[in-house]
Amino acid sequence: MKERLEALKSDALAELAGVNDAQALGDIRVKYLGKKGALTEILRGMGALSAEERPVIGQVANDVRGAIEAVIEEKQEAFQRAETEKRLAKETIDVTLPGRRLPEGGLHPLTKVIQDLEDIFVGMGYQVAEGPEVEMDYYNFEALNLPKNHPARDMQDSFYITEDILMRTHTSPVQVRTMQAMQGESPVKVIVPGKVYRRDDDDATHSFQFHQVEGIVVGKNIRMSDLKGTLLQFVREMFGAHTEIRLRPSFFPFTEPSVEVDVTCIKCGGAGCRLCKQTGWIEILGAGMVHPNVLEMGGYDPKEYSGFAFGMGVERIAMLKYGVDDIRHFYNSDLSFLKQFARL
Ligand code: PHE
Repeated sequence: MKERLEALKSDALAELAGVNDAQALGDIRVKYLGKKGALTEILRGMGALSAEERPVIGQVANDVRGAIEAVIEEKQEAFQRAETEKRLAKETIDVTLPGRRLPEGGLHPLTKVIQDLEDIFVGMGYQVAEGPEVEMDYYNFEALNLPKNHPARDMQDSFYITEDILMRTHTSPVQVRTMQAMQGESPVKVIVPGKVYRRDDDDATHSFQFHQVEGIVVGKNIRMSDLKGTLLQFVREMFGAHTEIRLRPSFFPFTEPSVEVDVTCIKCGGAGCRLCKQTGWIEILGAGMVHPNVLEMGGYDPKEYSGFAFGMGVERIAMLKYGVDDIRHFYNSDLSFLKQFARL
């Protein structure tokens, strides 16, 4: 019996030596060690052995089983290792390959300036409001103290849609719309960015469509000095801490008194250059104290309330800030122009 067991062992080991896949390995395990395998077959004859022989043969049988199992296990591990290595080799990622660069967008310079303006004024406690671009003559002119046939209407050539509806020529109609929406509550403190339209011929500094940012504050004891301080703060945040402003008397039907506001020349710092025509100053916006008639049309009693308003052209601010010499650059979608602003 012992000889049969030893023969089984050498048969199994010889067969295992030639095996090189997991499937064949499984077959050999079944053939020799399975329930109906060769080893079980031999051990069935154990009953015929004497009591002294039985443990000796049992020991031999265990050794034979152990030896075969050890080889099977070893082979199995080797197969698994080879399998893993094959997969790793196949799935290798070359981390030294250069990546694919995704095209990177950027904000349009006008968007950027509007966002800067919003940040600055929100920082001073303003809210951001909006109004319609297709506007009623009433809000664009009449409620701003510009009755029909008022000569000052000529200052803003307009695109009319009907006799009473036009493309708004400025963001000022939102002054009255905001006051009416506030229903007498105070303070009113908003800025209004948006598109405006004028029947101008396009050139380096004019466009039939451009952007403005309006501002209006209404409350008790609002004074011209508040306007001045607000604008000074604004220009310093926008153009730099050394910027000064200068107020010149002017006229708008919806403010009284009215001013035009200059900043120290962005280019020469006030010394005088071509940009500022040697004056050292550059005009950037119109402003004034809200006209009593406008307060009234907005639902605020001018004896109790006062306010200031200002309006500026976004393109003009952007041209000054970034040294752009032609307003048309903002509209013709030239990527080599726009890309310069991508990281600002
Ligand atoms: N709406 C005026 C313009 O477009 C600017 C302005 C706004 C002036 C508010 C005074 C007060 O020219």
